[in-house]
Amino acid sequence: MSFQLTSEQEMIRLMARDFARRELEPFAGQWDREKRFPADAVGKMGGLGLMGMMIPAEYGGAGAGAVSYSLALQEIAYACASTAVTMSVTNLSSDPILQFGTGEQKSRYLTPLARGEMLGAFAVTEPEAGSDPGSMTTRAEERGDHYRVNGSKLFITNGSRADVVILITRTGSDKANRGLSAFLLTRETPGFTVGRSEEKMGLCASDTVELLFDDCRIPRENLLGKEGSGFKIAMVALDSGRIGIASQSLGIARACLDESIGYAKARRQFGRSIASFQAIQWMIADTAAEIEAAAWLTLAAADRKDQGLPFTKEASMAKLFASEMANRAAYRAVQVHGGYGYMKEYKVERLYRDARVTSIYEGTSEVQRIVIAREVMQE
Ligand code: CAA
Repeated sequence: MSFQLTSEQEMIRLMARDFARRELEPFAGQWDREKRFPADAVGKMGGLGLMGMMIPAEYGGAGAGAVSYSLALQEIAYACASTAVTMSVTNLSSDPILQFGTGEQKSRYLTPLARGEMLGAFAVTEPEAGSDPGSMTTRAEERGDHYRVNGSKLFITNGSRADVVILITRTGSDKANRGLSAFLLTRETPGFTVGRSEEKMGLCASDTVELLFDDCRIPRENLLGKEGSGFKIAMVALDSGRIGIASQSLGIARACLDESIGYAKARRQFGRSIASFQAIQWMIADTAAEIEAAAWLTLAAADRKDQGLPFTKEASMAKLFASEMANRAAYRAVQVHGGYGYMKEYKVERLYRDARVTSIYEGTSEVQRIVIAREVMQE
Protein backbone atom coordinates (compact mmCIF):
# COMPACT_ATOMS: atom_id res chain seq x y z
CA MET A 1 0.00 0.00 0.00
CA SER A 2 1.33 3.40 -0.93
CA PHE A 3 0.09 6.80 0.16
CA GLN A 4 2.33 8.54 -2.37
CA LEU A 5 1.00 10.10 -5.55
CA THR A 6 2.86 9.17 -8.72
CA SER A 7 4.88 11.91 -10.39
CA GLU A 8 2.24 12.09 -13.13
CA GLN A 9 -0.58 12.54 -10.59
CA GLU A 10 1.43 15.24 -8.81
CA MET A 11 2.07 16.99 -12.13
CA ILE A 12 -1.63 16.97 -13.04
CA ARG A 13 -2.52 18.37 -9.63
CA LEU A 14 -0.01 21.21 -10.03
CA MET A 15 -1.16 21.95 -13.58
CA ALA A 16 -4.80 22.17 -12.41
CA ARG A 17 -3.81 24.28 -9.39
CA ASP A 18 -1.82 26.69 -11.51
CA PHE A 19 -4.68 27.08 -13.98
CA ALA A 20 -7.33 27.42 -11.26
CA ARG A 21 -5.45 30.03 -9.24
CA ARG A 22 -4.75 32.16 -12.33
CA GLU A 23 -7.85 31.73 -14.47
CA LEU A 24 -10.67 30.97 -12.04
CA GLU A 25 -10.06 32.18 -8.50
CA PRO A 26 -9.70 35.91 -9.24
CA PHE A 27 -13.03 35.97 -11.13
CA ALA A 28 -15.17 33.40 -9.28
CA GLY A 29 -16.82 35.99 -7.00
CA GLN A 30 -17.83 38.16 -9.93
CA TRP A 31 -19.18 35.22 -11.94
CA ASP A 32 -21.23 34.23 -8.89
CA ARG A 33 -22.67 37.73 -8.44
CA GLU A 34 -23.43 38.11 -12.14
CA LYS A 35 -24.65 34.50 -12.43
CA ARG A 36 -22.37 34.22 -15.43
CA PHE A 37 -21.28 30.91 -16.94
CA PRO A 38 -17.50 31.21 -17.49
CA ALA A 39 -17.54 29.97 -21.07
CA ASP A 40 -14.02 31.18 -21.92
CA ALA A 41 -12.45 29.54 -18.86
CA VAL A 42 -14.34 26.30 -19.51
CA GLY A 43 -13.06 26.39 -23.11
CA LYS A 44 -9.48 26.73 -21.84
CA MET A 45 -10.05 23.79 -19.48
CA GLY A 46 -11.16 21.74 -22.48
CA GLY A 47 -7.91 22.65 -24.22
CA LEU A 48 -5.95 21.41 -21.18
CA GLY A 49 -7.77 18.07 -21.25
CA LEU A 50 -9.62 18.70 -17.98
CA MET A 51 -13.09 18.02 -19.39
CA GLY A 52 -12.50 14.42 -20.47
CA MET A 53 -9.74 13.32 -18.14
CA MET A 54 -10.60 9.63 -18.00
CA ILE A 55 -11.12 9.17 -21.74
CA PRO A 56 -8.41 6.80 -23.05
CA ALA A 57 -5.70 7.95 -25.45
CA GLU A 58 -7.19 5.96 -28.35
CA TYR A 59 -10.12 8.44 -28.31
CA GLY A 60 -7.91 11.49 -27.92
CA GLY A 61 -8.16 11.70 -24.11
CA ALA A 62 -5.46 11.83 -21.47
CA GLY A 63 -6.48 8.49 -19.94
CA ALA A 64 -5.38 10.08 -16.69
CA GLY A 65 -7.45 7.89 -14.38
CA ALA A 66 -9.81 8.65 -11.52
CA VAL A 67 -7.16 9.60 -8.95
CA SER A 68 -5.73 12.29 -11.24
CA TYR A 69 -9.25 13.41 -12.09
CA SER A 70 -10.12 13.79 -8.42
CA LEU A 71 -6.94 15.75 -7.70
CA ALA A 72 -7.59 18.13 -10.59
CA LEU A 73 -11.23 18.59 -9.68
CA GLN A 74 -10.30 19.41 -6.07
CA GLU A 75 -8.08 22.22 -7.36
CA ILE A 76 -10.76 23.57 -9.70
CA ALA A 77 -13.36 23.48 -6.87
CA TYR A 78 -10.99 25.29 -4.49
CA ALA A 79 -11.01 28.21 -6.92
CA CYS A 80 -14.56 28.03 -8.31
CA ALA A 81 -17.09 25.41 -7.22
CA SER A 82 -19.42 26.33 -10.11
CA THR A 83 -16.74 25.51 -12.67
CA ALA A 84 -16.02 22.29 -10.78
CA VAL A 85 -19.57 21.00 -11.27
CA THR A 86 -19.39 21.90 -14.97
CA MET A 87 -16.21 19.82 -15.21
CA SER A 88 -17.58 17.00 -13.08
CA VAL A 89 -20.80 16.59 -15.08
CA THR A 90 -18.95 16.66 -18.41
CA ASN A 91 -16.65 13.91 -17.16
CA LEU A 92 -19.72 12.07 -15.80
CA SER A 93 -21.33 12.11 -19.24
CA SER A 94 -18.36 10.57 -21.05
CA ASP A 95 -18.16 7.60 -18.66
CA PRO A 96 -21.34 5.81 -19.86
CA ILE A 97 -20.34 6.33 -23.52
CA LEU A 98 -17.01 4.71 -22.76
CA GLN A 99 -18.56 1.82 -20.88
CA PHE A 100 -21.72 1.15 -22.89
CA GLY A 101 -21.29 2.91 -26.26
CA THR A 102 -20.87 1.23 -29.64
CA GLY A 103 -17.60 1.79 -31.53
CA GLU A 104 -19.38 4.39 -33.68
CA GLN A 105 -20.79 6.25 -30.63
CA LYS A 106 -17.39 6.26 -28.95
CA SER A 107 -15.57 7.72 -31.91
CA ARG A 108 -18.31 10.27 -32.60
CA TYR A 109 -18.57 11.67 -29.05
CA LEU A 110 -15.54 10.75 -26.96
CA THR A 111 -12.92 12.51 -29.06
CA PRO A 112 -14.64 15.91 -29.08
CA LEU A 113 -15.47 15.51 -25.36
CA ALA A 114 -11.83 14.68 -24.64
CA ARG A 115 -10.62 17.74 -26.56
CA GLY A 116 -13.14 20.03 -24.88
CA GLU A 117 -14.88 20.69 -28.21
CA MET A 118 -18.10 19.30 -26.73
CA LEU A 119 -19.67 19.68 -23.29
CA GLY A 120 -21.76 16.93 -21.76
CA ALA A 121 -24.80 16.69 -19.50
CA PHE A 122 -26.59 13.89 -17.69
CA ALA A 123 -30.39 14.00 -17.55
CA VAL A 124 -32.11 11.74 -15.04
CA THR A 125 -34.04 13.97 -12.62
CA GLU A 126 -37.67 14.92 -13.19
CA PRO A 127 -40.13 16.92 -11.09
CA GLU A 128 -41.50 13.73 -9.50
CA ALA A 129 -38.35 11.59 -9.80
CA GLY A 130 -35.37 12.77 -7.74
CA SER A 131 -34.01 10.18 -5.30
CA ASP A 132 -36.23 7.61 -7.01
CA PRO A 133 -35.35 7.68 -10.73
CA GLY A 134 -37.46 4.53 -11.20
CA SER A 135 -40.59 6.70 -10.96
CA MET A 136 -39.72 8.88 -13.99
CA THR A 137 -42.46 9.44 -16.56
CA THR A 138 -40.59 10.91 -19.56
CA ARG A 139 -41.12 8.26 -22.19
CA ALA A 140 -39.46 7.24 -25.45
CA GLU A 141 -41.67 5.25 -27.81
CA GLU A 142 -40.11 3.20 -30.57
CA ARG A 143 -41.10 4.37 -34.07
CA GLY A 144 -39.02 2.28 -36.49
CA ASP A 145 -35.80 4.17 -37.19
CA HIS A 146 -36.26 6.58 -34.26
CA TYR A 147 -37.72 6.98 -30.78
CA ARG A 148 -40.34 9.63 -30.04
CA VAL A 149 -39.74 11.26 -26.64
CA ASN A 150 -42.25 13.27 -24.60
CA GLY A 151 -41.77 14.71 -21.13
CA SER A 152 -39.24 16.88 -19.31
CA LYS A 153 -36.12 16.81 -17.14
CA LEU A 154 -35.34 19.13 -14.26
CA PHE A 155 -32.22 20.62 -12.60
CA ILE A 156 -29.93 19.55 -15.45
CA THR A 157 -26.37 20.80 -14.98
CA ASN A 158 -24.84 22.04 -18.28
CA GLY A 159 -28.28 21.49 -19.87
CA SER A 160 -28.29 24.60 -22.07
CA ARG A 161 -24.58 24.34 -22.90
CA ALA A 162 -24.16 20.65 -23.58
CA ASP A 163 -23.56 19.28 -27.06
CA VAL A 164 -24.43 15.77 -25.92
CA VAL A 165 -26.79 14.73 -23.12
CA ILE A 166 -27.03 11.28 -21.59
CA LEU A 167 -30.81 11.07 -21.40
CA ILE A 168 -32.53 8.41 -19.32
CA THR A 169 -36.21 7.81 -20.16
CA ARG A 170 -38.86 5.20 -19.76
CA THR A 171 -39.18 2.86 -22.76
CA GLY A 172 -40.77 -0.36 -21.55
CA SER A 173 -44.09 -1.00 -19.85
CA ASP A 174 -42.35 -2.12 -16.64
CA LYS A 175 -43.15 0.62 -14.15
CA ALA A 176 -39.97 0.48 -12.13
CA ASN A 177 -36.25 0.53 -12.84
CA ARG A 178 -36.19 -2.16 -15.55
CA GLY A 179 -38.28 -0.12 -17.99
CA LEU A 180 -35.67 2.64 -18.44
CA SER A 181 -33.27 3.21 -21.34
CA ALA A 182 -30.39 5.58 -22.05
CA PHE A 183 -30.00 7.75 -25.15
CA LEU A 184 -27.42 10.12 -26.56
CA LEU A 185 -29.27 13.34 -27.22
CA THR A 186 -27.70 16.10 -29.28
CA ARG A 187 -28.64 19.78 -29.28
CA GLU A 188 -30.15 19.94 -32.75
CA THR A 189 -32.57 17.00 -32.20
CA PRO A 190 -36.05 18.03 -33.45
CA GLY A 191 -38.56 18.44 -30.61
CA PHE A 192 -35.89 19.11 -27.95
CA THR A 193 -35.79 22.55 -26.30
CA VAL A 194 -34.20 24.04 -23.22
CA GLY A 195 -36.73 25.36 -20.71
CA ARG A 196 -36.42 27.47 -17.58
CA SER A 197 -33.02 28.36 -16.12
CA GLU A 198 -32.98 27.88 -12.34
CA GLU A 199 -32.29 30.62 -9.77
CA LYS A 200 -30.12 28.82 -7.21
CA MET A 201 -28.78 29.37 -3.70
CA GLY A 202 -25.21 28.58 -4.77
CA LEU A 203 -23.12 27.46 -7.76
CA CYS A 204 -24.59 30.53 -9.45
CA ALA A 205 -22.06 30.44 -12.29
CA SER A 206 -23.08 26.93 -13.35
CA ASP A 207 -25.82 26.16 -15.83
CA THR A 208 -28.92 24.45 -14.37
CA VAL A 209 -31.96 24.17 -16.62
CA GLU A 210 -35.07 22.27 -17.52
CA LEU A 211 -35.08 20.15 -20.71
CA LEU A 212 -38.32 19.76 -22.66
CA PHE A 213 -39.28 17.01 -25.10
CA ASP A 214 -42.24 17.45 -27.41
CA ASP A 215 -42.42 14.59 -29.91
CA CYS A 216 -38.63 14.72 -29.90
CA ARG A 217 -37.15 12.39 -32.55
CA ILE A 218 -34.04 10.59 -31.34
CA PRO A 219 -32.50 8.32 -34.01
CA ARG A 220 -32.42 4.64 -33.08
CA GLU A 221 -28.63 4.56 -33.40
CA ASN A 222 -28.48 6.96 -30.41
CA LEU A 223 -29.75 4.31 -28.01
CA LEU A 224 -26.92 3.79 -25.50
CA GLY A 225 -26.53 0.20 -24.35
CA LYS A 226 -29.50 -2.17 -24.53
CA GLU A 227 -33.11 -1.08 -24.26
CA GLY A 228 -34.14 -1.55 -20.61
CA SER A 229 -30.62 -1.05 -19.22
CA GLY A 230 -30.99 2.70 -18.55
CA PHE A 231 -31.26 2.40 -14.77
CA LYS A 232 -28.04 0.40 -14.49
CA ILE A 233 -26.25 2.77 -16.87
CA ALA A 234 -27.34 5.68 -14.67
CA MET A 235 -26.21 3.94 -11.48
CA VAL A 236 -22.81 3.00 -12.92
CA ALA A 237 -22.31 6.59 -14.10
CA LEU A 238 -23.36 7.96 -10.71
CA ASP A 239 -20.82 5.74 -8.93
CA SER A 240 -18.11 7.70 -10.77
CA GLY A 241 -20.03 10.96 -10.46
CA ARG A 242 -20.02 10.62 -6.69
CA ILE A 243 -16.21 10.56 -6.64
CA GLY A 244 -16.47 13.86 -8.52
CA ILE A 245 -18.80 15.44 -5.97
CA ALA A 246 -16.62 14.22 -3.11
CA SER A 247 -13.68 15.91 -4.86
CA GLN A 248 -15.64 19.11 -5.36
CA SER A 249 -16.55 19.06 -1.65
CA LEU A 250 -12.88 18.70 -0.75
CA GLY A 251 -11.93 21.73 -2.83
CA ILE A 252 -14.62 23.84 -1.18
CA ALA A 253 -13.57 22.66 2.29
CA ARG A 254 -9.88 23.46 1.67
CA ALA A 255 -10.85 26.95 0.54
CA CYS A 256 -12.89 27.32 3.76
CA LEU A 257 -9.88 26.25 5.79
CA ASP A 258 -7.46 28.64 4.09
CA GLU A 259 -9.90 31.55 4.34
CA SER A 260 -10.43 30.78 8.05
CA ILE A 261 -6.69 30.66 8.81
CA GLY A 262 -6.01 33.86 6.88
CA TYR A 263 -8.82 35.74 8.55
CA ALA A 264 -8.11 34.40 12.05
CA LYS A 265 -4.48 35.54 11.83
CA ALA A 266 -5.42 39.02 10.60
CA ARG A 267 -8.42 39.73 12.81
CA ARG A 268 -7.72 41.24 16.23
CA GLN A 269 -10.17 41.26 19.13
CA PHE A 270 -9.53 41.69 22.86
CA GLY A 271 -6.12 43.08 21.96
CA ARG A 272 -4.83 40.02 20.12
CA SER A 273 -5.22 37.98 16.97
CA ILE A 274 -8.26 35.71 17.18
CA ALA A 275 -6.04 32.87 15.90
CA SER A 276 -4.56 32.80 19.41
CA PHE A 277 -7.91 31.78 20.92
CA GLN A 278 -8.43 28.08 21.46
CA ALA A 279 -12.09 28.32 20.37
CA ILE A 280 -10.91 29.37 16.90
CA GLN A 281 -8.03 26.88 16.82
CA TRP A 282 -10.40 24.01 17.52
CA MET A 283 -12.61 24.93 14.59
CA ILE A 284 -9.55 25.09 12.33
CA ALA A 285 -8.20 21.80 13.71
CA ASP A 286 -11.52 19.98 13.21
CA THR A 287 -11.79 21.16 9.61
CA ALA A 288 -8.16 20.23 8.86
CA ALA A 289 -8.55 16.72 10.31
CA GLU A 290 -11.86 16.11 8.54
CA ILE A 291 -10.42 17.25 5.19
CA GLU A 292 -7.64 14.70 5.59
CA ALA A 293 -10.13 11.92 6.32
CA ALA A 294 -12.34 12.89 3.36
CA ALA A 295 -9.33 13.10 1.05
CA TRP A 296 -8.26 9.53 1.80
CA LEU A 297 -11.80 8.18 1.43
CA THR A 298 -12.09 9.93 -1.94
CA LEU A 299 -8.71 8.87 -3.27
CA ALA A 300 -9.29 5.30 -2.07
CA ALA A 301 -12.56 5.16 -4.05
CA ALA A 302 -10.83 6.67 -7.10
CA ASP A 303 -7.92 4.24 -6.79
CA ARG A 304 -10.33 1.28 -6.75
CA LYS A 305 -11.91 2.60 -9.94
CA ASP A 306 -8.47 2.89 -11.54
CA GLN A 307 -7.69 -0.69 -10.52
CA GLY A 308 -10.95 -1.98 -12.01
CA LEU A 309 -12.28 -3.04 -8.58
CA PRO A 310 -15.89 -2.50 -7.45
CA PHE A 311 -16.21 0.95 -5.86
CA THR A 312 -19.93 1.62 -5.38
CA LYS A 313 -19.72 1.52 -1.58
CA GLU A 314 -16.46 3.49 -1.44
CA ALA A 315 -17.78 6.21 -3.76
CA SER A 316 -20.92 6.59 -1.65
CA MET A 317 -18.88 6.72 1.56
CA ALA A 318 -16.58 9.36 0.08
CA LYS A 319 -19.50 11.43 -1.21
CA LEU A 320 -21.44 11.17 2.06
CA PHE A 321 -18.51 12.07 4.29
CA ALA A 322 -16.88 14.71 2.09
CA SER A 323 -20.10 16.59 1.30
CA GLU A 324 -21.24 16.71 4.93
CA MET A 325 -17.69 17.65 5.93
CA ALA A 326 -17.69 20.53 3.41
CA ASN A 327 -20.91 21.83 4.95
CA ARG A 328 -19.37 21.70 8.44
CA ALA A 329 -16.21 23.38 7.13
CA ALA A 330 -18.26 26.16 5.54
CA TYR A 331 -20.32 26.65 8.70
CA ARG A 332 -17.15 26.97 10.78
CA ALA A 333 -15.49 29.27 8.24
CA VAL A 334 -18.42 31.70 8.48
CA GLN A 335 -18.32 31.37 12.28
CA VAL A 336 -14.60 32.23 12.38
CA HIS A 337 -15.34 35.32 10.27
CA GLY A 338 -18.18 36.38 12.61
CA GLY A 339 -20.39 39.14 11.15
CA TYR A 340 -18.03 39.63 8.21
CA GLY A 341 -18.62 36.04 7.14
CA TYR A 342 -22.29 36.85 6.62
CA MET A 343 -21.42 39.62 4.18
CA LYS A 344 -21.09 39.04 0.44
CA GLU A 345 -17.80 40.90 0.47
CA TYR A 346 -16.12 37.84 2.03
CA LYS A 347 -15.46 34.67 0.07
CA VAL A 348 -16.78 32.37 2.80
CA GLU A 349 -20.33 33.61 2.17
CA ARG A 350 -20.13 32.10 -1.34
CA LEU A 351 -18.41 28.95 -0.12
CA TYR A 352 -21.20 28.42 2.43
CA ARG A 353 -23.85 28.60 -0.31
CA ASP A 354 -21.81 26.51 -2.76
CA ALA A 355 -21.21 23.74 -0.20
CA ARG A 356 -24.89 23.21 0.51
CA VAL A 357 -25.82 21.28 -2.62
CA THR A 358 -22.99 18.76 -2.33
CA SER A 359 -24.97 16.68 0.14
CA ILE A 360 -28.02 16.82 -2.16
CA TYR A 361 -27.12 16.28 -5.82
CA GLU A 362 -25.89 13.03 -7.39
CA GLY A 363 -27.73 11.30 -4.55
CA THR A 364 -28.63 12.89 -1.21
CA SER A 365 -26.80 11.87 1.96
CA GLU A 366 -29.83 9.71 2.72
CA VAL A 367 -29.44 7.88 -0.62
CA GLN A 368 -25.70 7.37 0.04
CA ARG A 369 -26.59 5.81 3.39
CA ILE A 370 -29.03 3.42 1.65
CA VAL A 371 -26.26 2.36 -0.77
CA ILE A 372 -23.65 1.95 1.99
CA ALA A 373 -25.99 0.06 4.34
CA ARG A 374 -27.02 -2.35 1.58
CA GLU A 375 -23.42 -3.03 0.59
CA VAL A 376 -22.18 -3.42 4.17
CA MET A 377 -25.02 -5.70 5.18
CA GLN A 378 -24.45 -7.87 2.09
CA GLU A 379 -20.74 -8.36 2.85
N1 CAA B 1 -24.07 -0.38 -10.30
C1 CAA B 1 -24.66 -1.30 -11.13
N2 CAA B 1 -25.94 -1.71 -10.97
C2 CAA B 1 -26.64 -1.17 -9.96
C3 CAA B 1 -26.09 -0.21 -9.08
C4 CAA B 1 -24.75 0.20 -9.28
N3 CAA B 1 -24.16 1.10 -8.51
N4 CAA B 1 -27.04 0.15 -8.17
C5 CAA B 1 -28.14 -0.56 -8.46
N5 CAA B 1 -27.90 -1.36 -9.54
C6 CAA B 1 -28.81 -2.32 -10.16
C7 CAA B 1 -29.23 -3.37 -9.15
O1 CAA B 1 -28.31 -4.45 -9.12
C8 CAA B 1 -30.58 -3.80 -9.68
O2 CAA B 1 -30.39 -4.72 -10.73
P1 CAA B 1 -31.45 -5.91 -11.04
O3 CAA B 1 -32.74 -5.21 -11.42
O4 CAA B 1 -30.84 -6.64 -12.18
O5 CAA B 1 -31.58 -6.69 -9.78
C9 CAA B 1 -31.15 -2.53 -10.25
O6 CAA B 1 -30.03 -1.67 -10.54
C10 CAA B 1 -32.09 -1.82 -9.30
O7 CAA B 1 -31.35 -1.52 -8.11
P2 CAA B 1 -32.05 -1.21 -6.71
O8 CAA B 1 -33.08 -2.25 -6.44
O9 CAA B 1 -30.96 -1.00 -5.72
O10 CAA B 1 -32.80 0.16 -7.01
P3 CAA B 1 -33.61 1.13 -6.05
O11 CAA B 1 -34.80 1.59 -6.78
O12 CAA B 1 -33.79 0.50 -4.72
O13 CAA B 1 -32.65 2.43 -5.98
C11 CAA B 1 -30.99 3.94 -5.09
C12 CAA B 1 -31.48 2.47 -5.29
C13 CAA B 1 -29.57 3.78 -4.61
C14 CAA B 1 -31.83 4.69 -4.08
C15 CAA B 1 -30.99 4.69 -6.45
O14 CAA B 1 -32.30 4.91 -6.91
C16 CAA B 1 -30.28 6.03 -6.39
O15 CAA B 1 -29.04 6.08 -6.47
N6 CAA B 1 -31.03 7.16 -6.27
C17 CAA B 1 -30.43 8.50 -6.34
C18 CAA B 1 -30.47 9.03 -7.74
C19 CAA B 1 -29.50 10.15 -7.92
O16 CAA B 1 -28.34 10.08 -7.49
N7 CAA B 1 -29.94 11.19 -8.63
C20 CAA B 1 -29.06 12.29 -8.94
C21 CAA B 1 -29.33 12.75 -10.32
S1 CAA B 1 -27.97 13.23 -11.26
C22 CAA B 1 -27.36 14.69 -10.68
O17 CAA B 1 -27.63 15.17 -9.62
C23 CAA B 1 -26.35 15.23 -11.62
C24 CAA B 1 -26.08 16.67 -11.61
O18 CAA B 1 -26.57 17.40 -12.44
C25 CAA B 1 -25.09 17.24 -10.67
